[in-house]
Formats: sequence, C-alpha cells, structure tokens
Amino acid sequence: MSNGLTNIAVFASGSGSNFEAIAEEALAGRLPCQVKVLVCDREHAPVKEKAQALGISVFCFRPRDYEQKADFEAEIVRMLQEADVELIALAGYMRLVGSTLLKAYEGRIMNIHPSLLPAFPGKDAVEQAMEANVKVTGVTVHLVDEGMDTGPIIEQEVVRIQTTDDAQSLQKKIQQIEHRLYPAVIQQFVEGEI
Ligand code: GRF
Repeated sequence: MSNGLTNIAVFASGSGSNFEAIAEEALAGRLPCQVKVLVCDREHAPVKEKAQALGISVFCFRPRDYEQKADFEAEIVRMLQEADVELIALAGYMRLVGSTLLKAYEGRIMNIHPSLLPAFPGKDAVEQAMEANVKVTGVTVHLVDEGMDTGPIIEQEVVRIQTTDDAQSLQKKIQQIEHRLYPAVIQQFVEGEI
C-alpha cells in the first residue's frame, strides 16, 4: 500500500461486468485501490479480455491441471502475496473457496451475490427468486467462509420485482445495483469503516 492504494485481486469465471465496474472505478481514481490481478479459472471466460483491455494482469489456471484444490490455491496464494494483494473480491467466481485461501486471507475475502441472502444461495439466484414468486429480492455483499454464500453479511440492497419483470429484466436491475454497490463496499472496507 506504498502509494496509498490498497492492492486487490478480483476472482471471476464469467462475463466480468462486476470486475469491470471495480477496475474502472479504481483506474479512474474513485476507489483507493489498485486491481493488481484478475484470477480466472476458465480459459475462455470473457472477463479475461476485459482485464487485458484495461491493462490488468490475468492469472488464469486450469483446475484440472492440479490434483486438488489445495494445490492450485497454494499457487494462487504465493502469487497474491508476491503482488502484495491485501483484499480479494469474488465477482462471479464459480467455485467454493478452500481452506488454503481462507487461512491466508482470513476476513479479507468478499463476495457479491444476486439475492438477499440467506434467501436463494448458490447458482441461478435470480431464477430462484422468480420461481418463488417473491415480491423483493436484491444484492448482498458478504465476507466469504467455507460455505456456499454463507459468510457474515456486510451490505444488502433491495430490488422490487414488478409483475412485468422476467428473469432477464430482473437480472439487469440487479446488475446495475451490483456495479454501484460492490465498489462502494470495497471502498468502505479499505477505509476501515467495516
Ligand atoms: C453477479 O450477478 C454476481 O452477483 C454473481 O455472479 C454474477 C457475476 O456477473 N456472484 P459478472 O460476471 O460480474 O457480470
């Protein structure tokens, strides 16, 4: 943090709109962070191109090249420590974090999830909310523990589901909130307000 910026790593497996929102805020100087690296577990994930376009390093690994989770996580931890990464933000990383990463970054891994946890954890949270016919859902940012979307909740924001909504329109509303909320929570976290 020698330049006054907190070094962060973003982990993502997919399209990377949250990665992009965080990285753009940081690059514009609105977030006191430097996104040192994108960690990606999928060779062809679109998020990789987003990182390259923004000049952010990519650490891409193939889980099947390792015998077990502890092996690739140990390599990730070594790389993160070399890059002086202090905080990890999961943004659509489709994998449970294991004990190797959790121990190395205890209390310093956060995740964003497209529902009001503890409702609708896991995959397809937006579709789950539609199918349950609930009137509200939302976005949660939480600290990561060994469970699936179970760690302590940091912040939540509500989205009302209109009768005209389908999964696609609801997803769009949720993502708009995510792109504002995640950088804001990261900022509060690095400024010690959380
Ligand atoms: C987001 O909706 C996030 O809440 C969930 O995964 C999705 C990732 O989307 N954990 P994107 O790749 O950031 O566009």
